Amino acid sequence: MNNLLSMHQLTDTDIMRLIERALEMKAGNYTPFTETKYIANLFFEPSTRTKASFEMAERRLGITSIPFDADHSSVTKGESLYDTCRTMEAIGCDALVIRHGITEYYDEMEDLGIPIINGGDGSGSHPTQSLLDLMTIYEQFGSFSGLKVLIAGDISHSRVAKSNQQALSKLGAEVRFCAPEAWQDDSMAVSYVDLDDAVEEADVIMLLRVQHERHGDAVDFTKKAYHMKYGMTLARHQRMKEHAIIMHPAPVNRDVEIDGRLIESPRSVIFEQMKNGVFMRMSVLQEIFGSEK
Ligand code: CP
Repeated sequence: MNNLLSMHQLTDTDIMRLIERALEMKAGNYTPFTETKYIANLFFEPSTRTKASFEMAERRLGITSIPFDADHSSVTKGESLYDTCRTMEAIGCDALVIRHGITEYYDEMEDLGIPIINGGDGSGSHPTQSLLDLMTIYEQFGSFSGLKVLIAGDISHSRVAKSNQQALSKLGAEVRFCAPEAWQDDSMAVSYVDLDDAVEEADVIMLLRVQHERHGDAVDFTKKAYHMKYGMTLARHQRMKEHAIIMHPAPVNRDVEIDGRLIESPRSVIFEQMKNGVFMRMSVLQEIFGSEK
């Protein structure tokens, strides 16, 4: 694997290999790289989880992270994304983790000589989030075949929804969406359902963050109205199957996508997703850097 740009590029075999390796690493079975390796984590959009868990994954594998802060870099003087990346390559970075607001920013990077791991591109893809979500689902159910996964919320702006829909369908799960009409995306062949009609059948209910920063003035829901129609309320929670789980990529808008009292409830795997993110990113880094174990 030379780059990790989107879930489109991974086969079901690739995904399962990454999951199995991440689970091994979670069990403590990994050895840091012996060769010196350098990575720059280039985040042009805010991040808590993705950036910090890549840094944790890099440290656990003995990789040196080169600090980069877009707001105090020459990006503020007009440096292009390509020139920032070429600079990192020229000074000796072995790979780049990039989050950027432009969907498919990586199309401009074809001449780059080092691997890119996509940490999220606009409303396009978020492959490592999808992989850690898949790892978390696999840990709970041991298989994807026939699982009913309901993804609810801001579908059209969500790179997580797109990446998970691509991967889960490939792995044999049945994905359905629930979203306000304005946030539906017809480019994906997925049926939209009412949350109240689907809540009792789902094995996994994944709520998505309302992405206010991508809406402009187009949002006309109050928080309460959104929560009552599209959120995980206490009443819906009580109607879920006994074994069903609640997921959210986070950050969560508490009491909007999920009643705040459910975020750390027994059904919620939200913090397990974050924990798994470190091991999945270690697994991806090992894949990118090849056979050295
Ligand atoms: N889930 C996720 O990508 O979180 P951050 O934006 O905090 O990285």
